[in-house]
Amino acid sequence: MKPRDMPTNHFFNQDIVSIKDFSRQDLEFIFGCTDRVSALRPNEKAELGKGRTLGYIFYEPSTRTRMSFEAAMASLGGSSIGIFDSKSSSVEKGESLADTIRIMDLYSDVIVLRHPLDGSSRFAAELSKNPLINAGSGSEEHPTQAMLDLYTILKEKNKIDGLTIGIVGDLKYGRTVYSLLYGLANYNVNIHLISPPTLSIRKESIYDVEKKEMKIFEHEELDDNILTKLDVLYVTRIQKERFPDPQEYEKVKGTYTVDSNTLRKAKPDVSVMHPMPRMQEISHSIDNTKNAIYFKQAAFGKELRAALLALVLNENPI
Ligand code: CP
Repeated sequence: MKPRDMPTNHFFNQDIVSIKDFSRQDLEFIFGCTDRVSALRPNEKAELGKGRTLGYIFYEPSTRTRMSFEAAMASLGGSSIGIFDSKSSSVEKGESLADTIRIMDLYSDVIVLRHPLDGSSRFAAELSKNPLINAGSGSEEHPTQAMLDLYTILKEKNKIDGLTIGIVGDLKYGRTVYSLLYGLANYNVNIHLISPPTLSIRKESIYDVEKKEMKIFEHEELDDNILTKLDVLYVTRIQKERFPDPQEYEKVKGTYTVDSNTLRKAKPDVSVMHPMPRMQEISHSIDNTKNAIYFKQAAFGKELRAALLALVLNENPI
């Protein structure tokens, strides 16, 4: 592309705190950049983060988000430092989030933060001079997960507009659900939300998205009538750690299981997604079906996060 034809990179040096800050045009720019960065030869890709350091701070456990950011940074030729076990850092001695962020800001070029409190990433982004990426803030948001979810849908279905998407499980505490809905609100889609009444969507959190083109229907059961309509079934884990009362968790655990019986009743090409980790809500028996795309989804996580890092670290990455 000639320089004058290249879209402007609005993300250079910018924080990524909420997917609500991203328009459809922004998301499509990121998806295009993900395609282009993924297609680079390893030596070209390794120029995009050369000499730069990613600093991660995870106050909650993670497998995919932390490792995919680290792997993405390595693929760009950069390095990573961080805290993922608070017991081995001064967080254990009582050091505040604010001071931890200020220190990481001195040692790194971009910070990736996961924290159990809503608003933590916004707070941290105001303190850090370098860009800060939200890797999960309480039950509020997980914006890069939603970006990779949308990218996965686009790669699998070649479109997002016109799709019917079911989201099943813990819709109250699952932060990936909120970021996904905010992202999907940029498209013309039908959404079926399926959860037990005690885990239904927080209405106040989707007040804005309900005013958009997206149509939302709520159900308690994942019945045959809904299954036959779905192009995508996005399954979520019941977030045990966020229940104030463990007995309430016991009442709802194991409510839904997606298995071969579920697939028999669904469209032949339904795509089953999950941000993972999965518990018993998806049977291992369907892992090798063409419908199960949750491992592909996790693989796209590394590609999309590499593109995001390239965009925040470089004025004109590609
Ligand atoms: N999807 C996701 O956030 O996974 P981790 O908790 O393993 O990072």
